[in-house]
Amino acid sequence: MYTKCVRVFPIRLLRTTPLFKKEMSSPSSSSDTEDSVVSAAKKPKFTVVDVDGWQKRWTERKIGFHQEAVHPYWEKYMDNILDNRENTNIFFPLCGKSVDIKWLSDKGHNVVGVECSAMALEEFFEEQKVEYTKETAEEVKGSLFQSKDGKIKLYCCDIYDFNKDVAGQFDVIWDRASLVAINRSDRVKYTDLLKGLMKPECCLALVTLEYDETKYAGPPHNVSEDQVMELYDKTHSVKLVETLDGLKERHKNWGISALEEKLYLIRKI
Ligand SMILES: C[S@@+](CC[C@H](N)C(=O)[O-])C[C@H]1O[C@@H](n2cnc3c(N)ncnc32)[C@H](O)[C@@H]1O
Repeated sequence: MYTKCVRVFPIRLLRTTPLFKKEMSSPSSSSDTEDSVVSAAKKPKFTVVDVDGWQKRWTERKIGFHQEAVHPYWEKYMDNILDNRENTNIFFPLCGKSVDIKWLSDKGHNVVGVECSAMALEEFFEEQKVEYTKETAEEVKGSLFQSKDGKIKLYCCDIYDFNKDVAGQFDVIWDRASLVAINRSDRVKYTDLLKGLMKPECCLALVTLEYDETKYAGPPHNVSEDQVMELYDKTHSVKLVETLDGLKERHKNWGISALEEKLYLIRKI
């Protein structure tokens, strides 16, 4: 009987309380309602940020997530992520002004990104010294910033207005600080969107953060291994490739004492 029970309710599901309870706070503010992820005594209040809130963060220079150097996982795992393919099409959801975009473009790859802040995209092209054009893109209810050589296309819009009809499907998706940035109640919607952008042989490189979510309201939000599995493992293979100690001085202001950064490589089964 016990064995039968375990089959029906895998241990990781038994350990996991509801993950996708809708946040009930107003945009850009901390929730004042209790989330059921942990007990009532702890009361985590997950912050909800809408597109306006993110644009404000850019104008107020609250962009501690931005990294000036190419992410070390690219140097270390490039062959695994790209499967040694050349001239691939790579998608950056919620791209900010990531320097990885230019680095990959310089290596011959085509990069498409989506970002809601026009300021971020202007800064990307100016700081990377890439000539660009800007045009209206009605298909995403926004605009398209494009390098003159056409290898970098960054759409300025809400990610939920983007889909495979806009720029096709991709060989690689690089999700760093993106799943962790979106509102917790949007995780399934966001993941379904990414799944629809994957070619059959696509590799999705997902970089998450893990910390004690009872201490900090996010974003970035804690995304546990169980949560990644919940989102992907029925339809995809999920491989945890590396775990790094990601705790920096600024994270201590969040009231946490440990933070791990994890890289998963996710492929269609
Ligand atoms: C935490 S940052 C990460 C940026 C980038 N991935 C990086 O590694 O630097 C999240 C970015 O997503 C953008 N963003 C948030 N919600 C968005 C949405 N619904 N649609 C498009 N962009 C969004 C924000 O403006 C912000 O630049």
